[in-house]
Formats: sequence, structure tokens, C-alpha cells
Amino acid sequence: MMTIAALIKDGTEKLIAAGIDEPEVNCELILAFVLNKTRTYVRAFSQDFINEKQQTLFKNILEEKLKGKPLAHIIGQAEFMGRVFKVNPNVLIPRPETEELINESLKQFKNNLPSSILDLCTGSGCIAISLAFLFKEAKITATDISTSALETALTNAQNLQIDKKINFVKSNLFEEIESKFDFIISNPPYIPTNDMQTLSPEVLCEPHLALDGGLDGLDIIKKIAEEAPNYLNPKGLLALEIGCEQASKVVKFFREDIWQNPQVIKDFAGIERFIFVHKK
Ligand SMILES: C[S@@+](CC[C@H](N)C(=O)[O-])C[C@H]1O[C@@H](n2cnc3c(N)ncnc32)[C@H](O)[C@@H]1O
Repeated sequence: MMTIAALIKDGTEKLIAAGIDEPEVNCELILAFVLNKTRTYVRAFSQDFINEKQQTLFKNILEEKLKGKPLAHIIGQAEFMGRVFKVNPNVLIPRPETEELINESLKQFKNNLPSSILDLCTGSGCIAISLAFLFKEAKITATDISTSALETALTNAQNLQIDKKINFVKSNLFEEIESKFDFIISNPPYIPTNDMQTLSPEVLCEPHLALDGGLDGLDIIKKIAEEAPNYLNPKGLLALEIGCEQASKVVKFFREDIWQNPQVIKDFAGIERFIFVHKK
């Protein structure tokens, strides 16, 4: 029998040798999955022994990880805002930056909570579902152009027993949307097409449709900025996640006669990552 700490040390060394990013974090996450506990538990109880069956499962998952697959695809799930979401190769694996997008959104609403929310490009549904828990009274619509992404989002909502609160709609951006909203939020595809080939093999396991934002990465963001005023109530808020070095171009999409001053907010890494802008 081995301790958690010994298994993490052994696994970390193998991942380092294979040039895999964040080796220790990955081992902790694998063990958290194997033990059905949190990563914090794994760290706190690192001197506990784990049984043969758990050890074998850890080694099998590690073997897959050594082949360069994203951990979330191997175990079929990812954590977002403290909840577990099912993921598969049809959806983007939820990212920590997007948790920041949600936390920054919360700061924007003090007493005046939104009563209607649209999550464009929902993917796994992580944004719409998290907002459904945070804004319990709001009517939420979530859209994606991909049927398989929407199916995954619906399954996630059902697993988390929040599906009755979200209307999932297959739509190319706003095409199938008829109402207006207090809050529109989106983490759209924003990688410039030419940068796609520079992405790590792990990221390339994710759907191109979720990543590729056209020549300069701004195709979808520009369309959202142009069309959102038709779907926002007066004073309504638009929140977008954007790519590195896109902020100065993106703020120019918001015409002064329609929008108030856009706010650019940095992520934890200091990158200008989010735009918040109110309709006049
Ligand atoms: C970057 S992923 C974001 C997924 C999820 N919201 C998240 O934050 O993890 C972008 C999503 O946009 C969807 N998408 C791409 N083009 C679209 C379009 N024209 N209309 C609607 N959704 C689109 C993709 O299928 C993908 O699920």
C-alpha cells in the first residue's frame, strides 16, 4: 500500500519526464477523482494510505495523461465554481478565467439584480448554470450553435437539478432569440485562426468551433457587439471574455451613441480579459 503523498511524488516525476504541464496539480486532481474527494482533502490527508483498487485506477488515469490528453476528457468531468460538470470532446473544458468572469459579473449587480439573462455560446453550460444558482429569480436562456454542446449543457443542468430554470436554444448567436434581456454574457471563440496551430496538443483536443474566432479572433465578438443592443433592455449589461491583446480593438466596437464607456478588467494573470459595457 502507498500513501497519497508517495503516489503524488511518483506520478509527478513521470509527468515531469513527459513534459506535461502542472504535473503535481494533475496528480492531485487525479487522486481527488479516484477518492471522490476534493483536491484540498488530498493535500490535507497526504499521509493516508490508499487501497490497491484506487492505486490501479490512479495509474490507469496517469497512463492516459502521459499520452497528452486533457485530464477532464480522461475522467469526463471538470470542476467549475465548486460544481462538477460533465465534459467531452464536444465542449470546451471550463476555465478558471471564466470563473473570474462570473465573479466580476456579480460585482456589477449591487441591489439591482438582473431578471433575465442570456448566455451566448454556452458550451458545457457552465456559465448559464452557475448564474442560475446565483440569480435564483432570473429567467435564463443559453444558446450554442452546436447540438452536441447543447445536449451536454442540458445534461449538466439536469445532473445539477437546475434544468427547469434554463431555456436551452440552438442558435447561431442571436438568430433564434426573440426577447430582450437585462444581462447578456458570453465566452465566445476568440483565438485567431493562425494561432490555432500554436496551441498545445491538449488544447487542440477541444472543439475548433469553441476556439477559432476567425482571422483576428474577433469575428464572433464583433457580431455580438453589433447585435447585442437589439437584445438588451435599456441600461442592460454585456459581459464578454476576450483573448490576450484584444481589448483595445474590442472597445472600439462599442459605439458611443449606443453604449456607455466599456470597462476592461484584467484576470488574475494581469491580462486584459473581460469587457463590461452597459447599453445607454
Ligand atoms: C469558448 S467556448 C465557451 C463555452 C462555455 N461558455 C465556457 O465558457 O466554457 C465557445 C462556444 O461557442 C460556440 N459557438 C461557436 N460559434 C457559435 C455561433 N456562431 N453561435 C453560437 N455559438 C457558437 C461553440 O460551439 C462553443 O461551445
